[in-house]
Amino acid sequence: MFNILMADPISHEGLDVLQKSEFVTVVGDTGLIPEELKNRISEFDALLVRSQTKVTREIIEKAINLKIIGRAGVGVDNIDLDAATEYGIIVVNAPNGNTNSAAEHTMAMIMALSRKIPQAHFALKNHRWERSKYVGVELKNKTLGIIGLGRIGTEVAYRAKGQRMNVMAYDPFLTEEKAEKMGVDYGGFEDVLKQADYITVHTPLLKETRHMIGPEAFEMMKNDVHIVNCARGGIIDEAALYDALVSGKAAGAAIDVLEEEPFQDHRLLDLPQVIATPHLGASTVEAQENVAIDVCQDVLSHLTGDLVKNP
Ligand code: NAD
Ligand code: MLT
Repeated sequence: MFNILMADPISHEGLDVLQKSEFVTVVGDTGLIPEELKNRISEFDALLVRSQTKVTREIIEKAINLKIIGRAGVGVDNIDLDAATEYGIIVVNAPNGNTNSAAEHTMAMIMALSRKIPQAHFALKNHRWERSKYVGVELKNKTLGIIGLGRIGTEVAYRAKGQRMNVMAYDPFLTEEKAEKMGVDYGGFEDVLKQADYITVHTPLLKETRHMIGPEAFEMMKNDVHIVNCARGGIIDEAALYDALVSGKAAGAAIDVLEEEPFQDHRLLDLPQVIATPHLGASTVEAQENVAIDVCQDVLSHLTGDLVKNP
């Protein structure tokens, strides 16, 4: 028998995959503090997480029976991959299941930001009829700059073109041929920063992408730029974003992810030109079902000696 710890909530469709197997027992214990997880991890052969649980080196060092960590989502920045590799623990994720959900959320945020929908909604709910205060801007003919044209960035590009936006993208793996095929303008990082009216980031959080949008990047941007981060807190330097918004360089920002989650610093959230959601990019019924099934299938495969699909 293999013991699996579900440390963050995962859709029951995924758990059904595991519970059908006679070889595994699943223990659901969400909300463990790091010390508790460290003390209990040696009981388990597999660990299932979303983004809340931080699987640090300290935890991995105590995980003497752990064979696999399953991340029900894309980003694996909450897992110490070097430590896992060192201790022979395989890490699997679910790279495809929430692409659509994250792309739709990004477009919803871009549109809500442009038309100040959250602010106007809040005013009206508080019985204030303030039409002239909430004049928006149109997306048509504006340039959307996409930093990171992977699965989600690509889906955002297609949707933005549907809104009649011009789309420009930077990704180290993007070729001019691929950009042309997609109807996207091919640019360097700085070209995108200088030409975009809206900038949305869709890279993973890596050493190379941490604070890639910092004070120098804001300096290069157009006045009144709109900034969107539905990827990972930390890709955009929040202090630099705050300064850009307060100085009037940036007209607004839409943020789904923060450097510290749940938030520690309220400054950005308190600005009226910032709209925000609490890391909801992948929070659709469909995406949660997809990622749970994908990751649970891989965990079961590995424990029972089969190959995994998403190492
Ligand atoms: P992906 O791997 O398909 O795409 C990432 C792209 O970023 C790749 O094309 C890669 O070449 C590019 N990239 C890497 N380094 C770069 C750099 N320095 N500059 C520019 N581009 C760079 O991943 P994806 O499925 O599109 O997801 C992207 C990220 O979105 C995930 O890593 C995750 O952190 C985040 N995400 C967030 C939510 C949410 O709930 N808000 C949901 C899903 C994914
Ligand atoms: C992801 O990387 O897939 C997202 O952060 C979604 C999530 O786990 O909530």
